Amino acid sequence: MLSTTPLLCALSLVRVALFGTPATLDDRATLGATPQVKATCHRIAAAVSNASEVFYPHSAQYISDITHTYASSSELSTCSVEPGSAGDVSKILRILGSTRTPFAVKGGGHTTNPGFSSTRGVQISLARFDKVTVNSTARTVELGAGLTWDQVYAALDPFGINVVGGRVRGVGVSGLTLGGGISFKSNKYGLSIDNVVSYELVLPNGTITSVTSEDTDLWFGLRVGLNNFGIVTKFVVKSHPQTKVWGGIMFYSPNQLDAVKDALVKYQQKQDVNAALLVFLNYASGQMTSGSILFYDAPVPPKGLFEDFLAIPTTLKNVSTWSFPDLISIFNPLSPPPSSARNYACGVPVTQYSPAVFDAFVNQTLLWGPRVVSLDKNASVAAFFEPFDSSIFSHGSGSAYPPDRSQAIFQSVLGVTWTNASIDGHIAPALRQGKDAVQAVAVADGQNLSHAAVYVNYAMFGTPPEEIYGQNVPRLRRIRAAIDPKDVMGLTGGLKF
Ligand SMILES: Cc1cc2nc3c(=O)[nH]c(=O)nc-3n(C[C@H](O)[C@H](O)[C@H](O)COP(=O)(O)OP(=O)(O)OC[C@H]3O[C@@H](n4cnc5c(N)ncnc54)[C@H](O)[C@@H]3O)c2cc1C
Ligand SMILES: *[C@@H]1O[C@H](CO)[C@@H](O)[C@H](O)[C@H]1NC(C)=O
Ligand SMILES: *[C@@H]1O[C@H](CO)[C@@H](O)[C@H](O)[C@H]1NC(C)=O
Ligand SMILES: *[C@@H]1O[C@H](CO)[C@@H](O)[C@H](O)[C@H]1NC(C)=O
Ligand SMILES: *[C@@H]1O[C@H](CO)[C@@H](O)[C@H](O)[C@H]1NC(C)=O
Ligand SMILES: *[C@@H]1O[C@H](CO)[C@@H](O)[C@H](O)[C@H]1NC(C)=O
Ligand SMILES: *[C@@H]1O[C@H](CO)[C@@H](O)[C@H](O)[C@H]1NC(C)=O
Ligand SMILES: *[C@@H]1O[C@H](CO)[C@@H](O)[C@H](O)[C@H]1NC(C)=O
Ligand SMILES: *[C@@H]1O[C@H](CO)[C@@H](O)[C@H](O)[C@H]1NC(C)=O
Repeated sequence: MLSTTPLLCALSLVRVALFGTPATLDDRATLGATPQVKATCHRIAAAVSNASEVFYPHSAQYISDITHTYASSSELSTCSVEPGSAGDVSKILRILGSTRTPFAVKGGGHTTNPGFSSTRGVQISLARFDKVTVNSTARTVELGAGLTWDQVYAALDPFGINVVGGRVRGVGVSGLTLGGGISFKSNKYGLSIDNVVSYELVLPNGTITSVTSEDTDLWFGLRVGLNNFGIVTKFVVKSHPQTKVWGGIMFYSPNQLDAVKDALVKYQQKQDVNAALLVFLNYASGQMTSGSILFYDAPVPPKGLFEDFLAIPTTLKNVSTWSFPDLISIFNPLSPPPSSARNYACGVPVTQYSPAVFDAFVNQTLLWGPRVVSLDKNASVAAFFEPFDSSIFSHGSGSAYPPDRSQAIFQSVLGVTWTNASIDGHIAPALRQGKDAVQAVAVADGQNLSHAAVYVNYAMFGTPPEEIYGQNVPRLRRIRAAIDPKDVMGLTGGLKF
């Protein structure tokens, strides 16, 4: 999920590369629009306050509203709407529900699942919910639902505080938090959901409400129910003091896989809640490379933690002591991406990175790498390893995910990036086979994966809800039925129970 191709791309370039010439874009978006959806767009425009606005395929705002990090997650909607208040979100949801119009809700737009925050109907972009408000008495921060984490970190840095959020530039506050939230600080403070104090939520019937731990069912469901219970406009989260941090990224020289494996296998036995580690493999242009992202929540890491990684020869090494936002700024996904990059990611939970499991990830990367490259020479296949502290799930309770908080799960990922849309159909089956093969090796190696739920934000489209929410699925279905009897949120894509 992480890569470092800092590519700056003007909006006009995004527009041309994504859709061809502006004229083509307008034509294609207009052709796809039905008169009913257009009428809904006009009704919304007439109903909302001057804080909000509806945009059509001719405008730059429309392009920015429908554009996602990866082109495979963008669609040409009939119109887009940028609500500027919870009251307007309420009006919009009422109109969408009563007209049964398909819609999508976009926070940061970083999903790698097609259709989760895109639509041919009405695209809602939460971009105008962009306030960061510090409450130093309560030691909380109020976050607008349209913010990205890098914006949040930059705003909090002058206060010497921080919150538990994403690790890469551009990832949205909303989707990450509604999907759980793995942070550099999760070993110490838990998932992002374990740090939420309250949500401002527009229910499917348009009622605006504040959800706290007093609201047993919604509190359970919103952590971690994505867009199933309505549209969140604000999150109030706990803040924590923040010093300078140590860390960075290393790309290892070729043929260092054995050293990387040894370092990872040894590292996972160490327990230090201030530390975080992400190791990655990447097959591209006929070559396998590897690297790591190191993090320590203090200006200097203790001895004995990261030496094995630091000793491996590198082709690029950028490790230093810096402010938290400066560190985050070097973890650039393709952001803005080369506008044609497509990406699917598939979570592969295991309980240990044994040598056999590491080898299985290497095998799958080397197996599928050449195959997808034979279909699209721009393609690459990546694997991500995320060892966690055994206590990671002990910082919270009573949420839809994880279904079992008693043990840590190592949420690994297999991902493919490519450009040719004609080969889309080949990617998900490849990733599913890769996941099954790795997990079969883990089981043969003695791991019990029966509690190893797939992390919501890494679950590839088509993952059965039981693999994610386990025994919580029936309760989630009951809560959904009570909160959304008319299935308004069924008009939007995404993970459904
Ligand atoms: C490069 C990269 C790095 C990542 N790094 C991390 C990481 O460090 N930690 C981690 O946990 N995950 C990470 N992820 C996964 C990430 O959490 C998910 O992709 C998440 O969905 C992104 O949130 P978003 O707001 O940007 O997404 P969006 O695409 O905008 O939304 C994702 C889903 O949430 C729904 N949604 C969004 N906002 C709202 C709202 N306000 N109300 C109701 N529903 C809403 C959407 O409808 C959609 O179904 C990463 C992903 C990528 C591509
Ligand atoms: C928006 O409407 C309010 C009253 O409803 C008005 O006070 C305000 O000036 C308007 N703002 C703009 C930018 O038109
Ligand atoms: C800060 O939070 C406290 C406790 O929740 C609340 O009473 C107070 O009004 C908040 N202050 C501001 C400025 O919002
Ligand atoms: C490390 O990243 C910083 C911030 O992006 C950059 O200024 C610096 O040149 C990088 N150093 C190396 C060695 O790549
Ligand atoms: C990796 O693949 C090779 C054959 O390509 C096979 O012999 C070996 O058992 C595989 N190892 C794992 C751990 O999957
Ligand atoms: C690969 O990328 C280049 C430039 O980004 C593009 O021109 C080319 O069409 C792409 N190839 C395929 C097979 O999509
Ligand atoms: C994309 O893939 C299709 C199907 O394999 C192929 O026919 C087409 O030539 C490819 N496009 C490019 C630009 O390579
Ligand atoms: C695997 O773990 C589950 C609980 O997490 C337990 O019920 C089951 O008995 C275990 N299976 C084996 C074979 O140990
Ligand atoms: C909207 O839904 C909520 C939650 O189910 C319910 O409490 C409320 O009464 C509903 N409001 C209306 C106007 O139907």
